[in-house]
Formats: sequence, structure tokens, C-alpha cells
Amino acid sequence: MPPRNIIIDTDPGQDDAVAILLALASPDDLNVLGITAVAGNVPLHFTSKNARVICELSGKPDVPVFAGCDAPLQRKLVTAEHVHGKTGLDGVALPDPQMQLQDAHGVDFIIEALRHAPVGTITLCPLGPLTNIATAFQRAPDIIERVQEIVLMGGAYFEVGNITPAAEFNIYVDPEAADIVFNSGVEITVLSLDVTHKALVTHARVDAFGAIGNRVGEVVASWTHFFERFDIAKYGSAGAPLHDPTVIAYLLQPDLFTGRHINVEIETQSELTLGMTVADWWGVSGRQPNAQFIGTINDDGFFDLLTRRLALL
Ligand code: BDR
Ligand code: CA
Repeated sequence: MPPRNIIIDTDPGQDDAVAILLALASPDDLNVLGITAVAGNVPLHFTSKNARVICELSGKPDVPVFAGCDAPLQRKLVTAEHVHGKTGLDGVALPDPQMQLQDAHGVDFIIEALRHAPVGTITLCPLGPLTNIATAFQRAPDIIERVQEIVLMGGAYFEVGNITPAAEFNIYVDPEAADIVFNSGVEITVLSLDVTHKALVTHARVDAFGAIGNRVGEVVASWTHFFERFDIAKYGSAGAPLHDPTVIAYLLQPDLFTGRHINVEIETQSELTLGMTVADWWGVSGRQPNAQFIGTINDDGFFDLLTRRLALL
């Protein structure tokens, strides 16, 4: 089978960075057509720079990187420096990138890539707020039916929220964008906090990254060590959740995951529960299923896959 074509839409963020590295370490399975940066964990200036830092770290400076939207559709940007540090990639000093941003806007790249590829041959992998994807769908509705699938990190049902008691960060930052994407009719697979809170970077797993023996392993160990301070303090758990790489792992090895095909709606009105993913896990609403909502992960298998692939960079 030829590798699956993907576009990674992202707001790096250390966990986004690990996801990008996992994808770039897997060229037999995934062909990364481009990386589109969006404002999220940190402002666009940093996310579009960080995406290039990561490509260079992986030894793949030819991957096209595009800057996308710098603010949510209707709201003021909310960022997460308290988790990811000022740059979004705090934890280890990396050189400024030599590679340039592409001239095109990230949204235009998504539109043109989908228009020029055969129908159903590009998978979108959003790892941040859904602003770029929703903007592309609004501006060029003809591309919606051309998308093979969307596999995204966002939302939660049993774990409810992380940025507010009711909402997960990526959905909360741009709930209107999430609403557009979830109601687009595209096949969506959701890797939510219900899954990522089962994928904890324990000390043994940080050590395993460090023991890989290459620069990428060292850097990933430093990043994961950096952001664990926040989550361990918050949840009292054995390590921090590694959110975004679950999206890429799902594409590489879907048998590590199980889920249900259910209805998911986005709260866009209530101040109290803004950005909540109202996931009908128990099938009580009568609403049509619109997403594959993943609930379990084989966490040892996930970290084994990740560590083996990062060793290839
Ligand atoms: C999501 O929010 C960001 O902080 C992470 O990069 C991840 O995409 C988790 O809620
Ligand atoms: Ca992210």
C-alpha cells in the first residue's frame, strides 16, 4: 500500500512536536504533504516557527510549512504558555530554523491540495484549534467531500475538560470552528482526553526516549520532562498525558485503539460549558452519529511504537 497522504494542522506545543516527529519518522506509512500552523498553545509567530524547528530537528527541512490563521473565527485567542512555556517548545534550546515559511497561507494550501488531489486521498490531522480547517471549509465548500478523513485531537467525554471544567483546550479555543468541522459530514475520528489521559509519560518512558541514543530522543526526553511538571502537579498522576501523537499512532496502528461511532456536538453558547464536546457515548440523544470517538488505548503498545519510530530519525 502506498503511504497515506496527510496534512498536519498544528499549534506546536511539545506534544504536537512529538506527533510531527512520529509522522516524519514513518515515511513508508505516511506522506506528509505539508504542515499548517495555527494559533493555539502559543501565538502563530511561535507555532509557525516551531513547526520548522521540528522539521529541521528531524532532518527533513523539505517538508513545506505554512502559516495559517492567527486568531479564532470569532473570539480572542486563548493560549497555554502555563503548560508549554513562552515559546511553546520550552524545555531544551534548539537552533532557529534556516528553512523559510512557504509564501501561501495555510488555508489556501489546504484548499489547493484537496482540489488538486484525487477525491478521498488526503487525510487531515488537526492537533490544535480547528480554525484553519473550518476556514478552508467555509471558503471552499467544494473541498469538504474531497477529504478522505479527519483524525483529530480534541474534546473529551469522561474526562470532561482541561482548560475549563467542561472543555478541552483545542475545542475551547475555537468552538465555532469545531462546530463547523463536526457538522461538515466528513468522517471524523476523535482522540480525546479520554484516550490521552491514559497515555502518560511516566519517568520510565521519559528515560526510554533518552536511551534511544539520537538527538531526537534526547530532545523528546527534555520536552516531556518539561511539561510533566504541570500535569503531575495538576492531576497527581504518574506522568503527563501525551496528547497529539495519539493521532499519528492511530493512523499507523489503529488496532491500539477502540471507540464508538457516536454523535458529538459542540457547545458554542453557554458561558459555563463553552467548547464542551457533548458526546453521546450512551446513545441516548437519537442524533445521527458523526464521529468515531476513541475511548481506549493500548498505552504500552503506543509508547513502544513511538520509541521505535523516533529511533529511526
Ligand atoms: C491539547 O491542547 C494542547 O495544549 C495540546 O497540544 C493538545 O493538542 C490537549 O488539550
Ligand atoms: Ca496541540
